[in-house]
Amino acid sequence: MCGIVGYIGRQPASEILLEGLRRLEYRGYDSSGIAVRDLDGISIRKKAGRVQELARLVDEQPCPGNLGIGHTRWATHGPATDVNSHPHVGGNGEVILVHNGVIENYATLREQLQALGYVFRSATDTEVIAHLIAHHLEEQARLGKDPEDLQTALDAVELALRRLKGTYGLAILFRDFPELLVAARLGSPLVVGVGKGEYYLASDGSPLVGHTDEVVYLADHEMVLLTTEGMRLIHRDTGARAPSIQTLDQTQHDQDLNGFPHYMLKEIFEQPQTIENAMRGRLDEEEATARFGGLNLTVQQLRRLDRIVLTACGTSWHAGLVGEYLIEEFARIPVEVEYASELRYRNPPLSENTMVFAITQSGETADTLAALRECQRKGHPTLAICNVVGSTIAREADGGIYLHAGAEVGVASTKAFTSQVTVLTLLALHLGRLRHMSHPAGKRIITALRNMPDVIRETLKCNDAVREIAKKYHHITDCLYLGRQYNFPVALEGALKLKEISYIHAEGYPAAEMKHGPIALIDEQTPSVFIVPHGNMYHKVMSNLEEVKARRGPVIAIASQGDKALDNLADDVIYVPEVEDFLQPLVTTIPLQLFSYHMAVLRGCNVDRPRNLAKSVTVE
Ligand code: AGP
Ligand code: GLU
Repeated sequence: MCGIVGYIGRQPASEILLEGLRRLEYRGYDSSGIAVRDLDGISIRKKAGRVQELARLVDEQPCPGNLGIGHTRWATHGPATDVNSHPHVGGNGEVILVHNGVIENYATLREQLQALGYVFRSATDTEVIAHLIAHHLEEQARLGKDPEDLQTALDAVELALRRLKGTYGLAILFRDFPELLVAARLGSPLVVGVGKGEYYLASDGSPLVGHTDEVVYLADHEMVLLTTEGMRLIHRDTGARAPSIQTLDQTQHDQDLNGFPHYMLKEIFEQPQTIENAMRGRLDEEEATARFGGLNLTVQQLRRLDRIVLTACGTSWHAGLVGEYLIEEFARIPVEVEYASELRYRNPPLSENTMVFAITQSGETADTLAALRECQRKGHPTLAICNVVGSTIAREADGGIYLHAGAEVGVASTKAFTSQVTVLTLLALHLGRLRHMSHPAGKRIITALRNMPDVIRETLKCNDAVREIAKKYHHITDCLYLGRQYNFPVALEGALKLKEISYIHAEGYPAAEMKHGPIALIDEQTPSVFIVPHGNMYHKVMSNLEEVKARRGPVIAIASQGDKALDNLADDVIYVPEVEDFLQPLVTTIPLQLFSYHMAVLRGCNVDRPRNLAKSVTVE
């Protein structure tokens, strides 16, 4: 949640900060703000609402200067008001900072600071950090520390951070250190962009695109001091470290809409390419298997596996469910799919040969990271299926597989899901071929996979038909999504997409479970989306569909091209190319993504920035 930006150099900071916030807005959009320093001091502009509101304010009241910080908020403590917007000020203006995360002991600290005379203006947890640093600066002065030595500022920050419980990514300006920008992290991501005589700071790489492609990722308990002279990286326990510069893995293409009205639609239409990217260099025809560069496990370790735990949140969790079907089918290894938010506090008995896979687009989801760390603590090999290169989970896992889907900007995850499913299919193939799967069976899977980019291109042709169907249904208040086996997770994903961006209540169920309860919801106003392509489950799901029709429930069917049986049975049919059962999720998800997109547009919803949500959930 929330995006942080910072800049120190020779260019006007406010423009760079505002542009950076626009690119980070997907992380939170309750309010935004900037603080910029010039010779006269530090000016703060902040406003509830979108970054464009802030930009308007900065237009009216410019803030010149070449050093600044900015924030786009996803509120955790205190409503989305101007006052609660970041930056927050500590003491008598000695400290100005922005924060991503949650301070769990903020109430106690607040009381202590109030007792010392500090006056709180906001309802946020963040404000305690600002006052706490100001307090320690005062202490340093009392101890006679040199008020011009940067070490004094550093010590004050460090002492304050030691008193915090919770998570933070921080960017800090100091009234009395006019050429200093300090950043610190614990649990919330931060990356420094290295320019020529200038530095950028951001929650992820997107604000850096076009400025620099040299980046340094901060680790937990690290702090960085940025001046125009250079950067100093300090770890709380191990002291200074030389920055290891990496190359940014994002391009301008990812940031542009490229003619599409919304990122979500652009990303849906990127899927033929992103699925191809997920397979590139990983299909080994000769051995009829898949290969990965970064698993970091020996063949012996992989053969010994007796259980796999897939852990994730939201859409990534749905991809994990597809993975469960795939791995159990191809490799005959028992798989469990766990919500990361539950796994992190559970204590499941995991055998020595259990492997844990975290699945995450952003690589920053707090619950997924915590679950991964908990499993690592217990000695299990942990791997990540992740999109964002250099993200915390990608760096902390023992090995993993990147999606190479490019930046996903739309808050509703689309292309990351199909890339995750593609990578899980490759993983299932790889594990299967290490066990009982025959060469011809592996070969058949590879051939089918190679066709998928074309199949998805063909599937996307349903867009116009889906838009027409959405016109008929966009006033509904409830919707059921039903599918079986490989299409059960697709039903969950279709329902989540509709809820997220069109705010229509939707539920996904295994189609046969419907008669155990949800069927009571069926009436003439409640449509059911049946995922019923040709395949092993076809006749079974058709029977469930009949059950709904018998109760006058409207039915939208996702069916295989040429399936005439549905013409007279379903109210509306969206036809998709026929593929083998195990590849169906890649295909049947597409019309459901498009359906939720068109429904949301027709309802006038903000597709890329749905209410109450944020792209990366970096708080618990
Ligand atoms: C998907 O549309 C969601 N916005 C959300 O459920 C998301 O998938 C979830 O927060 C997990 O994110 P991650 O993949 O970045 O870990
Ligand atoms: N907890 C802080 C707040 O509510 C920061 C939230 C965020 O990460 O955006 O303002």
